Parts: sequence; structure tokens; C-alpha cells
Amino acid sequence: MKTNRIFLSPPHLSGNEKKYIDEAFETNWVAPLGPNVDAFEKEIAEYVGVNEAVAVSSGTAAIHLALSLLNVQKGDIVFCSTLTFVASANPIIYQGAQPVFIDSEPDTWNMSPSALEQAFRDALNEGRLPKAVIVVNLYGQSAKMEEILSICNEYHVPIIEDAAESLGATYHGKASGTFGKFGIYSFNGNKIITTSGGGMLVSNDTAALKKARFLAAQARDPAPYYQHSQVGYNYRMSNILAGVGRGQLEILDERVKARRLIFERYCKELSHFPGISFMPELESTQSNRWLTTITINEKELGISAGEVLCCLERENIEARPVWKPLHLQPIFKGVKFFSHINNGSYSEYLFEKGICLPSGSNLHERDQLRVIGCIKDLINQNKNERDIIHIS
Ligand SMILES: Cc1ncc(COP(=O)(O)O)c(C=O)c1O
Repeated sequence: MKTNRIFLSPPHLSGNEKKYIDEAFETNWVAPLGPNVDAFEKEIAEYVGVNEAVAVSSGTAAIHLALSLLNVQKGDIVFCSTLTFVASANPIIYQGAQPVFIDSEPDTWNMSPSALEQAFRDALNEGRLPKAVIVVNLYGQSAKMEEILSICNEYHVPIIEDAAESLGATYHGKASGTFGKFGIYSFNGNKIITTSGGGMLVSNDTAALKKARFLAAQARDPAPYYQHSQVGYNYRMSNILAGVGRGQLEILDERVKARRLIFERYCKELSHFPGISFMPELESTQSNRWLTTITINEKELGISAGEVLCCLERENIEARPVWKPLHLQPIFKGVKFFSHINNGSYSEYLFEKGICLPSGSNLHERDQLRVIGCIKDLINQNKNERDIIHIS
């Protein structure tokens, strides 16, 4: 019989979601907006320590709103981390603006402050500074926010912190996602907590978030009839989904603990193999370890990242390559890119060598040991074959 499939990061319900959904049904609040939405926004704002939060239909919608609020328009430039999911940059295109991609650095795998500095110098020379910088916190690890903030402040350019993957993580003791002018979180089904689909825009600028609410609800003017002076979006979260989010938020800290434990177990079992390295955690930060991610040095380990992925798939285990950098994506062909290193780029190195291992907070220890066993078997098998060739 085929073994059960192990997923990369499946939803993990707490059991309390149902209570909030039932309340919504009982009170007939099954429309977009409602008491769960209001409460979920307050609870998230309180959890991450910002003045206000706006619940929306996705993390992508939250980025789009942030760009609209910063008045990013046709012809504007927006700097963006290259090593990320395409959703970080797509809203730049929705606005008719132009992305410029910034490489990763080795300590966090996130935006390189030195490449960012170079991009700013180049932009200054060209007389076209960016309207915004989108900084991504990859796989739950915060970027070097202090350095990045200092550069952006020098040029007076606001930051949108894409913390889609890093809810529950901290940087210098402060919640990830709260360092920019705007922060965004995603509650997509694979994230550390989910609403099945949804997102949150956070900021200390309450006036801007009032405008975000207006834009996210079709930009309806305060008139006694339907009047619109500006183009809006249908981006608000439903009261049912916000109920799921409330039940999930209650156990977020436990989910962070569980994912960090999973990371530690992988580390304990696999880090002694020469050629396997784990995604680092920057000093004074705590990653939520949304996904345990490793790099594989084929020369040292004898097998490639691609071979590990194929082997896991054969065993019905879902693992993934690290994001393909956006500057390599066909849709962004020809877009400007600033590298952290002279030859090639660090994000390309991570793409070539990196894999994400199953990391769901509901991953049973027995299943994790199956993933680990599969990787160990592959390494040992390869070593034995090499020994035979060597002896003969
Ligand atoms: C880094 C990053 N940014 C943005 C998003 C977009 O979030 P959503 O899927 O909720 O639109 C995601 C995840 O899906 C993501 O991983």
C-alpha cells in the first residue's frame, strides 16, 4: 500500500475556529465585514503591536493597497527583493510601475543592504528614485531591517514589509512586519496560520489605513447613493473567514514553537552531513521557521538538490525548490537587478541549491522521521555506490 502523502505546509486547525464561524451563522453575519473582521483586525494589531490593521482577501491585495496608498503609479520605480514568490512583485505591475530587483545576502537570505545601496546610488545618478521598497522576510526570517531602514530613510523612501511568511517572528524583540510604513501578512492555506485565503495590512498610520478600508470596499464616496470618484477594489475579508483567523491567531505562538521544533529535529539529524547547510537565523532575531530550508552542496554531499527532491517525491513526500528569483522569471525579463556579489548572484546560488522540507506544525514526528530517513538513505546509497566504484 502507498504510504500517506506528507505535505509541505498544510493547514492546521486549532478547533476554536468553529466557535467563531458558528457565531457568524447564528447572527447572520455571513457577508463581507462584520464582528469577526473587526475583532480579528484588533487582535492582529495588538499581537504585532501596531495602531491598526485592515483585513483583506489576500496578502497580494494588501501589497496592492499599500502601493496604492503610497501613490505608486504608471512609470514609477519600486525596489523589491528578488528571492520571493511572484505575489510580492505582481502588484507593482498592477499599478503600471516598474520593479527593480535586489539580491539576497547570506546571513538572512533576504534583501542585501549593500545591493540596495548600490541600487539607490544608481537611481540617484539616473535622477529617478523609487517610490517604495518592498522588503520580503523569507520563510519566516526577518531581513536586516536596521540596515535597510537606515538606507531607505536616508533617501526618504518608504518600506512595505512583505511579512506574508513571517507572522510570529521577531526582529530585535519587535514583531516582523512592523518596521516599514506598511506591513502585510498572508493567511493563505499554507501559511503559519490561515483563513483559507486572506491577508492583513498593518501600519501605525491610521489615516492611511482608513483610506485602505475605503479603497478595499470599491472606494464608495460618502453620498446617499452609489458614487465613486476614484477606482477601488473588492478586497475586504469575509466575516466567516475572519472567524477562522481568530481561532487560528489564538494558537499562533504554539505554531511557531512547533515549527521551530521541526527545524531543530531536521538540524539534529541532518546537519552533520558535509554539504547540507540550514537557513541561518540572524542574531537578535527569531524566525518562525515557517519552512525548514536547506542548501545542498553537490560536490560535498555527492547528490544534488534536484535528486533529493525527486527522491522525496518518489516516497510521496512534498518538498519544494527555493523560490526562483524574480529577476530570472520570464515575465520580468530585462528588468534591472542589483547583485550582492560580483559574479552571479546569491539568490541564484540559493535557487540552485535550496530545498524546502515538509514543515507543517501538524507534521507528526513519525512522518518527519520518514522524510529524514529518505534523505539519509539516499546519501548512504550514493556513498556505497561511490565506494564500490572507488574499490573496483
Ligand atoms: C512572500 C510572499 N508574499 C506575498 C504572498 C501573497 O500572499 P497571498 O497568497 O495571501 O496573496 C505570499 C504567499 O502566498 C508570499 O509567500
